[in-house]
Amino acid sequence: MDKILVTGGLGFIGSHTVVELQNEGYEVVIVDNLSNSSIDVLEGITSITGKKPLFEKLDLKDKEPVEDFFKKHNNIKGVIHFAASKAVGESVQEPLLYYENNISTLVYILKELKKLPSASFIFSSSCTVYGQADELPITENAPVKLAESPYGNTKQIGEEIIRDTCKVIPTIKAIALRYFNPVGSHESAKIGELPIGVPQNLVPFITQTAIGIREQLSVFGNDYPTPDGTCIRDYIHVVDLAKAHVIALKRLLENKHKSNYETFNLGTGKGSSVLEVIHSFEKVSGEKLNYKIVGRREGDVISAYADTKKANDELGWKSELTLDDAMRSAWKWEQVVRGK
Ligand code: WQD
Repeated sequence: MDKILVTGGLGFIGSHTVVELQNEGYEVVIVDNLSNSSIDVLEGITSITGKKPLFEKLDLKDKEPVEDFFKKHNNIKGVIHFAASKAVGESVQEPLLYYENNISTLVYILKELKKLPSASFIFSSSCTVYGQADELPITENAPVKLAESPYGNTKQIGEEIIRDTCKVIPTIKAIALRYFNPVGSHESAKIGELPIGVPQNLVPFITQTAIGIREQLSVFGNDYPTPDGTCIRDYIHVVDLAKAHVIALKRLLENKHKSNYETFNLGTGKGSSVLEVIHSFEKVSGEKLNYKIVGRREGDVISAYADTKKANDELGWKSELTLDDAMRSAWKWEQVVRGK
């Protein structure tokens, strides 16, 4: 079966995608610099699938080691590229770290793919490229807006780099997957989200509050023009998201793509407010969550949820797991991680 490189494969979405790739029979090699993940995740993946992926610690910012890696693994047929820094707030404080880590690494990988007879490339992008979309649900034709953070800008620039590369190098076929809000964990609770430090995202902050690591969840504003005043997002279960990566990769490997650069939104198509997420968590966990309403967070969009028609029609993929499934699995994972 084809050999697939997964960069950042020990991360949250990367590890779940490695599981689904192995379930489909692919040979997987993971590279990760362990800056935002743990080598223990390799054991978690292996315990789920029974197959230990190849792993090499590699920092994709180091040009020569990247070249050496591709010389050694010159039979790679596809790459799923997760490795990147992804904290919106941090990117505002450390723009150069984000441009170096998210852009130069992408260029180095594409230069290696150019040397291969053919390469299928899946890029981890984000709905953040849309900013506050004018129309909801958001389609892939929605205009890309001025990025609200260097992180979001690296996703926009990354897509442009890939698009321009694919225009002139026909042997590289690429798909950018624009995720909405990935949440939840594998049902086995052997892998999941492992935020380092204080979580920036809503769901890990909820589970850490419920387990007692955080005192109280702050809800960033309830004066938005939405039914209950809190922001709306499209929370997609990470396992559904992982499966979409395998389907997108297969589309390229089997040459079913319609052009050699395509983009797809990956969401459930359903918007959920912050309070609805909290209530879902309380329902499935039986825990009463300690939260308070505070002021708005800078840079938050009011509402974002996906129009899933293109992914449904073209990829034959749709999300199957619900918000309750995601909250249940996230809570189970939190309890396992904290040894409860
Ligand atoms: C969701 C909602 C917050 C924390 C970010 C990135 C995006 C993608 C997903 C990578 C918002 C509210 C949150 C808290 C809260 N990341 N919230 N209290 O901002 O939609 O998207 O993560 O690709 O690119 O921008 O996700 O989970 O941070 O926030 O009230 O402690 O929860 O205001 O309305 P976001 P989030």
